[in-house]
Amino acid sequence: MILRGNFPIDKFEELETPFYYYDFDLLRATLRAIDENTRRDPDFCVHYAVKANANPQLLRIIAQAGLGADCVSGGEILAAIKAGFPGHKIVYAGVGKTDREINIGLDNDIFCFNVESEPELRVIDELARAKGKLARIAIRVNPDVGAHTHANITTGLAENKFGIAMTDLDRVIALAKSLDNISFIGLHFHIGSQILDMNDFTALCNRVNSLVERLENRGIDVPNINVGGGLGIDYKHPNHHSIPNFEEYFDTYRRHLNLRPGQRLHFELGRAVVGQCGSLISRVIYVKEGTKKRFVILDAGMTDLIRPALYQAYHRIENISSDSEIVERYDVVGPVCESSDVFGKAVDLPLTKRGDFIALRSAGAYGEIMASQYNCRELPKSYNSDNI
Ligand code: LLP
Repeated sequence: MILRGNFPIDKFEELETPFYYYDFDLLRATLRAIDENTRRDPDFCVHYAVKANANPQLLRIIAQAGLGADCVSGGEILAAIKAGFPGHKIVYAGVGKTDREINIGLDNDIFCFNVESEPELRVIDELARAKGKLARIAIRVNPDVGAHTHANITTGLAENKFGIAMTDLDRVIALAKSLDNISFIGLHFHIGSQILDMNDFTALCNRVNSLVERLENRGIDVPNINVGGGLGIDYKHPNHHSIPNFEEYFDTYRRHLNLRPGQRLHFELGRAVVGQCGSLISRVIYVKEGTKKRFVILDAGMTDLIRPALYQAYHRIENISSDSEIVERYDVVGPVCESSDVFGKAVDLPLTKRGDFIALRSAGAYGEIMASQYNCRELPKSYNSDNI
């Protein structure tokens, strides 16, 4: 096998582009790093946020590593169960859970529904009663803690649609405790995604500490605290930082969150688990000389990886075919009929020609799963280091 970086480039020659390529050895190393940094804390429970990537083989590896699953739809619960996550390790959040989806959760005896509104709480109670079950719920609190990340992916501010305001918390807990088929087991939080400044998580810890203390003073026990996900990855240097700094992340919680004996702390990590192990592999269809610029036109577009178009997100672009020592500046674009279908502007690449392989790095999270068929394009296929 001929490797370019970690890419088996000779195998790629036989495949139709574009496709996602997952380095499962890196995924396993990432899962080992999570285990090494949480093993000594039996009260830490790490869940994988399925929304980041629900590729069945990838899910299976994560389930085998012992993580729980954080789901946001009935479809995700079913995908998690199919991949081998046990129901009792599944948590389920979402502002708009339908009756059908709640029933999927009940039928699979999931660990916890993260409840985001009062009407939702009443519906879960009704549906649980109809099945003669007791639904465990945590209340998702909107902590009004900002995160230093992109505006579209912060979720913990008062202005966001997520969770229940702190001022309504007492009333909603009282309601939960009054409902026969509901068991109140804790609180859930999430402040946003792609967070690299640990101070943001410290701010969340401080908020959680004061809330839990307030509740305990009134005799309300909070056996489970779920702090959501959000740990970011290094999009600029995927090779140097291929595994996120889990030590720093879990240490932040260890140092700043006052966990009581027997209290369990849940995490819901998505991007940090799968982000670096995936790349979108495409071929150059044309190199086009514009009047002011030179364009590299790929066969992958925003339908395959929407993050640059949607969030102006940066993904490192590498020509993994070219050996040229000549470096040229290009705008790297896709073929979709939208001017936002741009992966990078003024990108320096070795001299690039038609047919070269281009890797869009750090695309394991929110890549394949967000693909669409706009322009009647086919969904991208995927391959991995186990099956190629
Ligand atoms: N828990 C909850 C309640 C969430 O809303 C999310 C992500 C996570 C956990 C996982 O967050 P992570 O560890 O992956 O940061 N499509 C966007 C990201 C949206 C994140 C939505 N919620 C992107 O491509 O950047």
